[in-house]
Amino acid sequence: MVVPAEHALHEAIQVSPLILSDDVKRQKIENRVAKMRFSAAIARKIQDVFISEMNKGIHQQPSSLQMENTYIPELLDGTEEGLYLALDLGGTNFRVLLLELAHGAPIRQEVKRYYIGSELRVGSAIPLFDYLAECVSDFVISQGLQDVELPLGFTFSFPMIQHSLDVGVLVTWTKTFNCPDAVNKDAVRLLREALDRRGDTKVKVLAVLNDTTGTLVQGSTLDHNTAIGLILGTGSNACYLERADRVEHWETERHGEREVIIDIEWGAFGDNGVLDFIKTDFDRENDANSLIVNSFTFEKYIAGKYLGEVVRVILAKLTKERLLFVGDSTSDSLLTPGNLTTDLVSHIEQDSLDGGDSNTKEILGKFGIIPDEDDIRIVQYVCEVASNRAALLVSICLASLLDRIDKEQVTIAVDGSLYKHHPRLEGWMKQYISLLCTPGRKFKLIHAEDGSGKGAALVSAIAQRLKKRLQ
Ligand code: GLC
Repeated sequence: MVVPAEHALHEAIQVSPLILSDDVKRQKIENRVAKMRFSAAIARKIQDVFISEMNKGIHQQPSSLQMENTYIPELLDGTEEGLYLALDLGGTNFRVLLLELAHGAPIRQEVKRYYIGSELRVGSAIPLFDYLAECVSDFVISQGLQDVELPLGFTFSFPMIQHSLDVGVLVTWTKTFNCPDAVNKDAVRLLREALDRRGDTKVKVLAVLNDTTGTLVQGSTLDHNTAIGLILGTGSNACYLERADRVEHWETERHGEREVIIDIEWGAFGDNGVLDFIKTDFDRENDANSLIVNSFTFEKYIAGKYLGEVVRVILAKLTKERLLFVGDSTSDSLLTPGNLTTDLVSHIEQDSLDGGDSNTKEILGKFGIIPDEDDIRIVQYVCEVASNRAALLVSICLASLLDRIDKEQVTIAVDGSLYKHHPRLEGWMKQYISLLCTPGRKFKLIHAEDGSGKGAALVSAIAQRLKKRLQ
C-alpha cells in the first residue's frame, strides 16, 4: 500500500516528460537513464543508509561519514572586537580577508583574491604553502599591518582529522587539488612553517576550519536559528550543531560544552560501497575521469566539479549509441572529459524553466553541433535528470539532519557557486526536504554569502575568546 506521504514524494520527484517525435527513441532514452531516477522507496533507502552511516561515524565505528569534531562549541556572543584575518583555500581561488568586528558583528571587510595555478594545485605541498604565505604577507603588508599581531582563521576545505581547533591533519585531497606529500600532515603546521620561513608578518593561526563550518557561523550572524552549514559548490559537504554528549571523538579537555559543530564530510558518503545500489555506468565513467578515483562517491553525484561531467558522459554515450545528434557529426569536443562544465548545465536548465531553447542551442553550437528539435529536448532532459538527482540526494541528507537536530526551527545556511547559479536546485530542495523529514518540521534555507571566508575570521574571533577564557 502506498501511504499518502510517499505518494506526494513520488509525485514531487518526477521530472518533466520527454516528448520526442520518435516514440521508440524516447523509450530507449528513458530506459538508458532510468537508474538515475529514484523511486520514493529508493529515496527512503538512501535516507536510511545515510542515518546509519551518521550514527556509525559519530560512534567512531567504520563508516563513510567522518563526522569530524571541529572543536567549535559555541557561536559569536556579541563581545568580539577588533581585526581578524582569514584565509580561504578550497576552490579555484585563494582568498585573504580582513574583518573588523564590533560587538560581534563585521563592520569592515577587505578581501583579495589570488589565483592558484594548476602547477601549484598538483605537485608538492611546499611550493603551495609558500605561495599561500606569500599571498598572506602581500595582503597584510598592503594593509600596513605587518607589525600587528593578527589572529587568523584558516578555511581549509578538505577532509581533516582534527585534534583540536588549530590542528587539522589532511585525510585526502579532493576537488582540484592533489599534493600527496601533505596527506597525513597538519595543514596548520604547514602554513605556520611557511609563514615562519618568510618571517615578515605577525600573523597567529588560531583556528583551522572547513568551509561548511564557516558558512554555519556566518549564517548564525544572519539568523540565530542557523544550525546547519551547507556547501554546494565545486565540492559538497555539510556541518551541523550536534549535542556535545553524543560526540565521542574529543581529544581536548572538555569544559561542559553543550553543543559542538560536526563536519560530516558527506562527499565521501558511499566510499565503502553502501551506496552502490544507485551507482550507474555514467557514475563509474565520471569517477574514472576524475583527479582522485574511487573516492568522494557522493560528491561526484552532486557537486559543481562533477555535475557537468555526469551530463557529458550521458550525452556522449547516447551519441555513440546513435540516440542523439544522429543527423550531425558530433565534434570530438563533447566527447572529451571535462569539456561540459556545470555552469552550462545551469544555463540549459534555465531554458527548461523558461520553455525556451536559446541557451541550449548556443552551448551546443560552441561544441560545433547543430541540433534538431529532438536533440534539444534530449539534452534538456538529461540536464534535468542529473540536476534533479543531485537536488534529491542533497535533500535526503538535509532532511535526515533536521530530524537528528530535532529543534523547533532550523535554518540551513548555504553557500557555493552551484547553489547560487543553478536555477532550480533551491526550489526542488525546499520541496523535497519538507517531504522527506518528519512532517511539520520548520526549516529555512538562507544564503550565507561568502561564509567560507567571513566565517573563518569569525571563528578566529571565537577561538581567541575561548583561549582567553581558559587562561
Ligand atoms: C570537499 C571537501 C570538504 C568541503 C567540500 C566543499 O568535499 O572534502 O571538506 O567542505 O568539498 O568545499
